[in-house]
Amino acid sequence: MNILIIGDVYGHAGRAMIEKLINDVIKVEKISFVICNAENITNGRGTSREDYNFLKFHNVDVLTGGNHTFDHYETFDLLQEKNDILRPANYNKFTPGKGTVLINFAGIKIRVTNLLGRTFMNQNTNNFYEVMDDILENEEKANIHIVDFHGEASSEKIAFAHNYKNQLTAVVGTHTHVQTADDQIIDEKLAYITDIGLTGAFHSIIGANTKEVIYREKTGMPIRLRTADGNGQFCAVVIKIDNNTYKPTEIKRIYLKNVAA
Ligand SMILES: [Fe+2]
Ligand SMILES: [Fe+2]
Repeated sequence: MNILIIGDVYGHAGRAMIEKLINDVIKVEKISFVICNAENITNGRGTSREDYNFLKFHNVDVLTGGNHTFDHYETFDLLQEKNDILRPANYNKFTPGKGTVLINFAGIKIRVTNLLGRTFMNQNTNNFYEVMDDILENEEKANIHIVDFHGEASSEKIAFAHNYKNQLTAVVGTHTHVQTADDQIIDEKLAYITDIGLTGAFHSIIGANTKEVIYREKTGMPIRLRTADGNGQFCAVVIKIDNNTYKPTEIKRIYLKNVAA
């Protein structure tokens, strides 16, 4: 089976790309299951109810999050109401929602787990190795287990992937909004990419309005950034999984650039 994982969808520009491209990608790549990082879909800040419904309408099975998950108050409610939206699992136990879910897909058990890196992230999270070990030991076993590792540091992500190559199916990075070219199958066991990249505005600073980011950098003023307008881009990976062994056979990058909105 083929699983599509879409990188951070940012604001109205990201939604426009989903609306325009996701159906074709699902058809051409023969996709059965879709995971999407939704931490920035509501103007860069969290996931509103309307945007959750938008992604569900466009065939997304599981929404993952990151450091911006709790920027929108409606995300708190969604995390407690819905089974298919995650926040990083390594926030502490008092945090609303959950960071791992098992979905039964036509008899195949697919687990999706969301984790947050600790290097340069400025978030009060627990050790992700401890949390991952705990999930693997105590949660129901799955045929396919995919981790969205949301983090800044490339070394942190690939070290994590190597450590769990025997227990997981794929570790895909999100958060930097820049697609890396290091897609690989580690030891023929685990599909990996350091970062899937941004689904949002093409002429932007990782999704946000260029002028506003430069103004903020120059002045140091903490201005709120708006989503950039104009043409977009769509970043994702397709992971092909053997239907008998459930091992990943291929990871394919998708980077559609400068697409008219
Ligand atoms: Fe992001
Ligand atoms: Fe992030």
